[in-house]
Amino acid sequence: MTAQIIDGKTIAQQVRAEWKVRADALKARGIIPGMAVIIVGNDPASKVYVANKVKACAELGLYSKHVELASDCTEAALLAEVESLNNDPAIHGILVQLPLPKHLDANKVIEAINPDKDVDGFHQKNVGALVTGETPFPSCTPYGVMVLLEKTGIAIEGKHAVVVGRSNIVGKPMALLLLHKNATVTICTSKTVDLAKHTRDADILVAAVGRANFITGDMVKAGATVIDVGINRNAEGKLVGDVDFASVKEVAGYITPVPGGVGPMTITMLVANTVRAAERANA
Ligand code: GUN
Repeated sequence: MTAQIIDGKTIAQQVRAEWKVRADALKARGIIPGMAVIIVGNDPASKVYVANKVKACAELGLYSKHVELASDCTEAALLAEVESLNNDPAIHGILVQLPLPKHLDANKVIEAINPDKDVDGFHQKNVGALVTGETPFPSCTPYGVMVLLEKTGIAIEGKHAVVVGRSNIVGKPMALLLLHKNATVTICTSKTVDLAKHTRDADILVAAVGRANFITGDMVKAGATVIDVGINRNAEGKLVGDVDFASVKEVAGYITPVPGGVGPMTITMLVANTVRAAERANA
């Protein structure tokens, strides 16, 4: 069997068109949703991500502000920038691109963001809301995975979902979003003993460990849906996921490619969260 490929690019375009209707409705009321991205330093991967985020905002007619700070900027300077954006009525969403240079305390910076503008969904208030019920701002990557599953018509209720990875950005919120849809959820890490025993039991397998080609065909149940959140460079410098696409596509029922799977959805859901933030600010 060869898996059906979940085309994240096409689904992202469709979802962006849906959110553009909501953005246009705000514009008709004289409200332009605005997003600010703060980037500290010169990490090339972060620069590419931020450029793509700003481009997606422009595509939907959102206002975006791009703040660049030097890699040696002080924590006070960064916090002052966040505070200024908290108080800027043209900005509805604030995102501080991670990772930050080591001398800056990412948690402190995230907690300084007004939770009503926390479109990453990283603030403790929004993480807490995700645990107990519904957050207005689900973290963009897991939120994008949920929309991919929904748009592809993959049933979640009652299914066994296995998430490999336990990061605050992907693994933990991913598990909670699946749980809210009544999946039976197992969270594994790269260190889980006999990992394949767990992954082979998954109806829905989400790989978010950050290791190239970590999940291989022998670790996947026939017909499973395999979602690859990884973005890694292999020895030849090629972009690859956490899933060994060649072997897994022979076993899985559905699979996301890298690139062109989850990536376009992450950025789409950031735009969605920004539009929702603007709606909430003007309710
Ligand atoms: N770095 C990698 N992914 C993300 C993300 O979703 N948000 C932010 N702010 N930084 C990231």
